[in-house]
Amino acid sequence: MKTPILVVEDDRGMCELLEIGLGRRNFDVRWTTDPRSVLTRLMQDAVEAVVTDLHMPGLSGIELTKQLVGNRPDLPVVVITAFGSMESAVEAMRAGAYDFVTKPLEVDALALVLNRAVQHRALREEVKLLRKAVAATHSFGGMIGDGDEMRKVFDLVHRAAQTDVSVLITGESGTGKELVARSIHNQSPRKNGPFVPVNCSALPEHLLESELFGHTRGAFTDARNARRGLFQHADGGTLFLDEIGDLPLSLQPRLLRVLQERKVRPVGSDAEVDIDVRILAATHQKLEQAVEEKTFRGDLYYRLNVVQLHLPPLRTRGNDVLLLAQHFLDQTAARLGKRVERLNPKAAERLLAYNWPGNVRELHNCIERAVALSSYDQIGIDDLPERIRDHRPTQALLISDHPSELVSMEEIERRYILRVLDIVSGNKSLAAQILGFDRRTLYRKLEKFGLPS
Ligand SMILES: Nc1ncnc2c1ncn2[C@@H]1O[C@H](COP(=O)(O)OP(=O)(O)OP(=O)(O)O)[C@@H](O)[C@H]1O
Ligand SMILES: [Mg+2]
Repeated sequence: MKTPILVVEDDRGMCELLEIGLGRRNFDVRWTTDPRSVLTRLMQDAVEAVVTDLHMPGLSGIELTKQLVGNRPDLPVVVITAFGSMESAVEAMRAGAYDFVTKPLEVDALALVLNRAVQHRALREEVKLLRKAVAATHSFGGMIGDGDEMRKVFDLVHRAAQTDVSVLITGESGTGKELVARSIHNQSPRKNGPFVPVNCSALPEHLLESELFGHTRGAFTDARNARRGLFQHADGGTLFLDEIGDLPLSLQPRLLRVLQERKVRPVGSDAEVDIDVRILAATHQKLEQAVEEKTFRGDLYYRLNVVQLHLPPLRTRGNDVLLLAQHFLDQTAARLGKRVERLNPKAAERLLAYNWPGNVRELHNCIERAVALSSYDQIGIDDLPERIRDHRPTQALLISDHPSELVSMEEIERRYILRVLDIVSGNKSLAAQILGFDRRTLYRKLEKFGLPS
């Protein structure tokens, strides 16, 4: 298909020459000798770029460029200027022209500039579409995702929000567990109440206890004043117990009692206080396993796990990587006041190939850094951290038909171990079992190959 463009030039002979010349180079040339008719003409003709002469009776090329930029900012304008007249070229660019070419016209040079202009326009349109797609999924409390798995997550978030049951949110680090918890709260009838997050792994046991349940004055040496616990702070709202897998075994029966009785008893107090709190909990650990190993109480696990919501790792979310990347890119560019608009295709390819052990958080950091570094309107592979730039997908490479890509048995072993570990999410016992090693052998191999053990 030929690319439709409009030529504005008062010399009819020149118009006809361009029609033939550009016509041979895959352009469908419409032309007019009257610059004042251009805006109306564009309402009927869908063209992708405009070429205009500078000196025309009625309206100058500069004036026309300004009109076009004002009315049709999507259309790139290429201005034809006299050879050697730098001033008019500068003036045209200031007026908002995409580029200029000089007389005497070389059709090849003009075709080149036009091709670039049209491509540039197509990219801008693509960015707009992508932004719309991102905006359309925004209703889930700032959560982006378009794949089947994430749609199921959004659906479950929505349904869980209508109820008051406990939800256990699972998923690797950085997959968005806290975001999901906030989103459930914000869509729930408790949305006007407080959302109180508490990290169960951040505090030593006794501090966590008084933090959660509160304490009376003099309950322990440092307790100079009575203090309300986080359960009470969350009254009427939601308490988010993050890293619940790290909740000390000794505190678990107390938490269970609160969940059953809906009452808390502050440390050092005999009296119980009624509370109305919804509990959400999150963990990156396999709690079932902890229950089997008796490091987590089964009865508490079943109380917390009325609904389980699992967040898939980013590496299995397919094109969501690019959707999220574009979202973080727009956000960061706006914040830093930079005109970075998109990822170039090579960078996008690398992001898709990488395995994202740190999931969405890692992607977020990577894009923030890239936007800050980038000196163009797009992010290229040089703006990506080395580990992502140089990442080689472990699958597919095992067997190749190309002699230059064939590798040693040792390298096969290294890659296969990596691949197995990847699939079992780093579970060493399981990996060793699959590989037919005992754990000691697996650790020895990891060390030998310089892999994290
Ligand atoms: N679907 C998503 N759309 C947009 N942003 C997301 C999405 N998922 C996660 N994020 C962002 O990624 C970052 C990490 O998310 P979050 O803190 O919720 O993860 P987490 O699972 O709680 O991680 P950790 O286990 O390390 O605590 C946050 O900045 C969050 O806003
Ligand atoms: Mg978290």
